[in-house]
Amino acid sequence: MINLTHNQNSSQLVISHQAQSLQGNITIPGDKSISHRALMLGAIASGETIIKGLLLGEDPRSTAKCFQAMGAKISELNSEEVRVIGVGEKGLQEPFDVLDAGNSGTTMRLMLGLLAAQSGKFFSVTGDDSLKTRPMSRVIKPLQEMGAIIYGRNNHQNAPLAVVGQNLKPIHYHSPIASAQVKSCILLAGLMSEGKTTVTEPALSRDHSERMLHAFGGKLEIDQDTNSVTIEGGTPLQGQTVIVPGDISSAAFWLVAGAITPDSELTITNVGINPTRTGILEALEMMGADITIINERETAGEPVADLQVKTSQLKACTLSGAIIPRLIDEIPILAVAACFAEGTTIIKDAEELRVKESDRLAVMALELGKMGAKITELPDGLEITGGNPLRGAEVDSYTDHRIAMSLAIAALNAKGNTTINRAEAISISYPTFVDTLKEIFN
Ligand code: S3P
Repeated sequence: MINLTHNQNSSQLVISHQAQSLQGNITIPGDKSISHRALMLGAIASGETIIKGLLLGEDPRSTAKCFQAMGAKISELNSEEVRVIGVGEKGLQEPFDVLDAGNSGTTMRLMLGLLAAQSGKFFSVTGDDSLKTRPMSRVIKPLQEMGAIIYGRNNHQNAPLAVVGQNLKPIHYHSPIASAQVKSCILLAGLMSEGKTTVTEPALSRDHSERMLHAFGGKLEIDQDTNSVTIEGGTPLQGQTVIVPGDISSAAFWLVAGAITPDSELTITNVGINPTRTGILEALEMMGADITIINERETAGEPVADLQVKTSQLKACTLSGAIIPRLIDEIPILAVAACFAEGTTIIKDAEELRVKESDRLAVMALELGKMGAKITELPDGLEITGGNPLRGAEVDSYTDHRIAMSLAIAALNAKGNTTINRAEAISISYPTFVDTLKEIFN
């Protein structure tokens, strides 16, 4: 039995017995990263952008509201086909009120690159309680090097932030972290500056911005040997049709669910398999999961496929180094997979998880621990010994969408009742998650 109940602003998801089997075809919602970028590039391009398959989650809604407040015309987010009429690169209007990025780090960080370059205009930017604690200095510092004027709480590290738009100058930024949000912020600011801006990162992060900027007419050079991207400033963008593939980070929940639940077979259609995002497939393959990639194709500049998963006996693995940015959002659900794998799984080099929507290392260790998992928090990762049966418990999402969904998949395979508090967080990236869970549950 799966039951979602709402009281006041909070929801509880109750999963009250183990799944005997999971069966069916699943269509997952649009990719969150690509949805944000399509809205933003559409908003600053000239002419019309048509977005097909947009994620109708809370995070893209935050992006849409911010850019509507700055003059972009964006049709209602009540259908997956959304039309955007852009204002042109430097045409964002000074908003009448504070821009609210909600729970979305991508909205805030990418948008800051654009706002910093709107010469002579003032912007204030905030977010929810989680976003207000997340580090913004990682984008503010390089933007300041470009000449940006940004003030913020906590010595200019946290939102609420105030931005006074300037004419920015290009830089070569060597980012200390492999972060697509940092890279994209600087590339967007670079697009607004005269000359060439380069970002070099220590390992390759997701490249959706590069692909989409190129499709909109941006001029980019990519040096794969050094993980560097250069953008030529001042190139006008032209509205496009963007087809958003399904989000592999959302598919990850079903890949793990299908692998760890007895007698299961799931087909997940139309999943984006951009190589900068497929660390989850490699990790699950290392763990012995029975996953088949079928119907590989390319849709609007992004590779897409259908994924089939069947019940498999998993074994432990070690994950560290360059694969981490390629599965950064999938570590909570991989921790669940590790609880059902033979041996001890070690995840390292993942300290970035501490500054996501929640401290995902601490929260997964605590909440899976309540369910009986043998899980230890490391300074930069997790150590999980599989094979101890999980039991139902009362757990909390810490308002983090990926924590809520990971715990739900653990609960499907736990003995007894699990109650997930603050389950409303799921609607950030996957509003139809519980409906799909009910459809495939036997
Ligand atoms: C994202 C990049 C990643 C990821 C986040 C979305 C993006 O964050 O965790 O969910 O859309 O660029 P970082 O850039 O902080 O690693």
